[in-house]
Formats: sequence, structure tokens, C-alpha cells
Amino acid sequence: GKHLLGLQHATPEEIKLILDVAKKMKKVVLSDDKKIPYLKGKAIINLFMEPSTRTRSSFELAGKYLGADVINITPSGSSMGKGESFRDTLLTLSYMGTDAIVMRSSAEGAPLYATKAVDPIIINAGDGAHEHPTQALLDMFSIIERKGSLEGKKVVIVGDIMHSRVARSDIYGLTKMGADVHLAGPRTMLYPELEKMGVTIHHDVREAVKDADVVNVLRIQLERIHSALYPTNREYARIFGINKDVLSLAKDDVMVMHPGPMNRGLEISPDVAYWDQSVIQEQVRNGVSVRMAVLYLTIHGGDGSELAY
Ligand code: CP
Repeated sequence: GKHLLGLQHATPEEIKLILDVAKKMKKVVLSDDKKIPYLKGKAIINLFMEPSTRTRSSFELAGKYLGADVINITPSGSSMGKGESFRDTLLTLSYMGTDAIVMRSSAEGAPLYATKAVDPIIINAGDGAHEHPTQALLDMFSIIERKGSLEGKKVVIVGDIMHSRVARSDIYGLTKMGADVHLAGPRTMLYPELEKMGVTIHHDVREAVKDADVVNVLRIQLERIHSALYPTNREYARIFGINKDVLSLAKDDVMVMHPGPMNRGLEISPDVAYWDQSVIQEQVRNGVSVRMAVLYLTIHGGDGSELAY
């Protein structure tokens, strides 16, 4: 087995393999019988130390569709709430014969630490502002599904890049796969060093969105913003909010994405969120297939050629 900590060190071939297997998994998910028990007899623990709706539920469904036993642990319902350390929690879970731990944490590097502390396969489901690899994989999957490929596509990521693990993983993945990545946001939510990641930075969202194939709107992370340096919600919505007027500058067939959860009316207008060129619901749907591919490839191994689809 192999860990999935992020996309920074992933190769384009590895990303392509996950996306190819995810395509097969999507056929399974859309079929009458979603159970393909390649992980029968395996145990997966979802250790989520930050809130989640999409990632946790889709990892749980993905594991169950593959026949694994999946359980969920949260700090308030576990002995972490009584002060048990992160390391002791990991050791305790690994003594139970766990094959994989899917982990979300507010601490950057927590999954890397876990790989050194215990034996199970570690899958990063979001660590602070560092990486959220399965979100980026499902984002790339959703773009390919609608646009055919990533190569040369202008993808604009708008918003709070600084606090966004989704943005970082998206940037690593999209640039490796040949997309033309642009970032837009207030100066306090973007730092110039990001240009070293092979992206173009804009502070004028209208300029950024011009001729875009894809506009990926990020959530303003109110829980990570505690400073007067940031715009107020009203300023942000007025200057950087994505609405039909801004999108009129993009390509006619622009697709709109958002990782969720949305602050509707803040970073994205409600009419855009539920527009037929928005794939936000499809992103959620694709999350299950992509996480099935990740669990299959990390825990079971192989290249997916045994899959019937
Ligand atoms: N996109 C995402 O990670 O959503 P959750 O926080 O609900 O898992």
C-alpha cells in the first residue's frame, strides 16, 4: 500500500491513473449494484478532527461500496475529548488492525506525522491550509468530464488562496496536468511567492476571468480569518464575488466550480451556484468515485485493469 498525503510530489502518470480508475468507479456508482468488494475484510477509520460533510460521507460510502468496514471518529465523541494525544489516538486505532486511516486535521503535516507514527495507510482528507488531494482529484475529474481534457484549459481559482488547502492541491494537480492556472483575490489572501508554483496572479477578478474555461470559486474561510487585514464580507462580495456579470467576460461555455460548503451571496451569487453551467452538484457526485479509486489503489493496489468496466 501507499499513502496519499498530497499532490505536490505526485507524478502526472499517478494522477492520470487515479482519474482513469475513478472513471470506472463512476460506472459502478451509477449502476444498480454499487458493491464491488475488492476491499472486503479491510478496515478503514475516518479520523476527522475538523468538520466535514462531503469528504467524510463520500469516503465512508466509497469504503462501504468497496466492501470495507468503515468507522468514524471525531474529537468530541472520542477520548481526544478527554485529552488523549494525537499520537496515542493513532497508536490505539492501529492496534485494532486498521488498514487505512483517512484523516482531516487543522494542523498542516498531521498526516505526514501519522505515516511516521503508525503502520496503516494514511490518506489526507485535508490538513490545515496545506493540502486536500482528493478534492483536487475530483475537481480535475469534473473538468475532464465536461471539457475533455485539462491541457491548455484556462482555470481561474478565485478567493481566499492563502487559507485554502483546496487551492494548493488544485494548483499542484492542474499545473502538472498542463492547465493554464490563474489566481484572483485580495492582496491579503494571495502572496507573490505563489507565482513560483507556475500560476498567474491577478487582483482584478474581471481581468482574471477573461476567456476562462473554468472558474473555481473558493469558500471564504471565516474560521481561519481573524484580522482587520481582510475585506469585510460586504466588500468581498462587491469586489470579488462571482456573479453572472463577471462571468460574461469568460468563455460562453465557462464551467463554474466550488468545493463547498458555499457561503452563497458572499463568494458566489445564488443564481450562479444553481446555474446549468455550474458543476457543483456533479463535483459532490464525483467525490464518491474518486475516493473509491483512491481507496482501491492505496489499499488494494494494482492498476485497476482487473475492474470489469
Ligand atoms: N469540500 C470539502 O472538503 O467539503 P467538506 O468540508 O464538507 O468535507
